[in-house]
Amino acid sequence: MLELQQVSLEVEGDKSFEILKNINLKFYEKKIYVVTGPNGGGKSSLAKIIMGVYNPTSGKIQLDGQDITPLNITERARMGIGYAFQNPPRFKGLKVKDLLRMAASHNPEKINICDLLYDVGLCAQDYLNRDVDVSLSGGEMKRIEIATVLARNLKVAVFDEPEAGIDLWSFQKLAETFRDIHVKYDTTIVIISHQERIMELADEIIIMSNGMISAQSERDIILAGIMNNAACACSTKCVKGVGQSAECLG
Ligand SMILES: Nc1ncnc2c1ncn2[C@@H]1O[C@H](COP(=O)(O)OP(=O)(O)O)[C@@H](O)[C@H]1O
Ligand SMILES: [Mg+2]
Repeated sequence: MLELQQVSLEVEGDKSFEILKNINLKFYEKKIYVVTGPNGGGKSSLAKIIMGVYNPTSGKIQLDGQDITPLNITERARMGIGYAFQNPPRFKGLKVKDLLRMAASHNPEKINICDLLYDVGLCAQDYLNRDVDVSLSGGEMKRIEIATVLARNLKVAVFDEPEAGIDLWSFQKLAETFRDIHVKYDTTIVIISHQERIMELADEIIIMSNGMISAQSERDIILAGIMNNAACACSTKCVKGVGQSAECLG
């Protein structure tokens, strides 16, 4: 289990600014969590805090009971926490099979990279020898990136807005990919997303706004809240804690 205990993140500037405020979260094994909420709410910062890109100003992060707060990105990666970038890097001269072999090289279990490609919806014979460069579409690149995350056999994988920059058709496939890998792999998956299709995959949904957790519950409860809120024209009673419109709560 990955646990964040009273985690805050402050950045220094002309005036100091608290990006994350006293976050308490538990991520259990084999579950999918979707983190959603308005832009600037702190979602990407939360992902970076989990990954070790940022270290918290205060609070503690534990993985399976071990304090990992002081560990950096490389040390956390070694412990099985992985991060998929919002805009995946592409390397000239590197083939898909090289990328996947590199990713699988630290995995003690033997991984068949053709199976991996299949699991993310790509046909191995068409993709193994493709260059990891701009010739791959956004959707293809996203799926290859998911395959690299799977190859590493991570305990926790964080995806920051995997839907960004891909078309509707590829997106549909991407959602299916997450659903399928959830069944097959043991990884705890944390997806930052605004997409209802992705939210539907979640065991639990976390809503972040203003650097805080404004709601967290089982998928159906949160989704029902979001729907009610969307339907309410500020006259009906809304689900408390979701959507946060003061007028609607009256
Ligand atoms: N390194 C940083 N320095 C200063 N402000 C930052 C930094 N990273 C993020 N922020 C600010 O923190 C807030 C939360 O950002 P972010 O976590 O990217 O939100 P989200 O992913 O929910 O859109 C935003 O106001 C953003 O401008
Ligand atoms: Mg973000």
